[in-house]
Amino acid sequence: MAKKPTAPPIYVLNGPNLNLLGLREPEIYGRTTLEEIGKMVADRAKTHGLSVVFRQSNHEGQLVDWIQEARTKSAAILINGGAYSHTSLAIHDALRAVDVPVIEVHLSNPQAREEFRHHSRISPVAKGVIVGFGAQGYLLAVDAAASLVKRIGA
Ligand code: DQA
Repeated sequence: MAKKPTAPPIYVLNGPNLNLLGLREPEIYGRTTLEEIGKMVADRAKTHGLSVVFRQSNHEGQLVDWIQEARTKSAAILINGGAYSHTSLAIHDALRAVDVPVIEVHLSNPQAREEFRHHSRISPVAKGVIVGFGAQGYLLAVDAAASLVKRIGA
């Protein structure tokens, strides 16, 4: 019997300083570590029959390389670009070149914080944005990605 084709993974890309989650400003970003978020995200994706590639880098070029990889290897991209969300034209351009859905995630709500966080260079190239729900936001983003992937695959 023919095997049901499996969808490519969701790429979850995390930008600078997110490796310090749980330690860094927990009153803003919460106490859940990035490793714990990685496990939560993988479990949630599994409930949708999807898998996850979960990565973090402090380096802009590395994130661009992973976005380019995800162009052909992913079903969707979830990205928390950290501070690069507000500054990086290179990440903006890399995401523009992608056809799969892009969902921007932030643990905090940047709009409710300092003015320099109010502009995102990722939002204009994202299908949707989930902010302010802490680690839970990653799970909401997985659910959103799954429904988009299923709609596309249907
Ligand atoms: C963040 C918000 C950014 O402004 C900040 O630079 C981060 C984390 C968030 O998830 O809330 O590093 O992306």
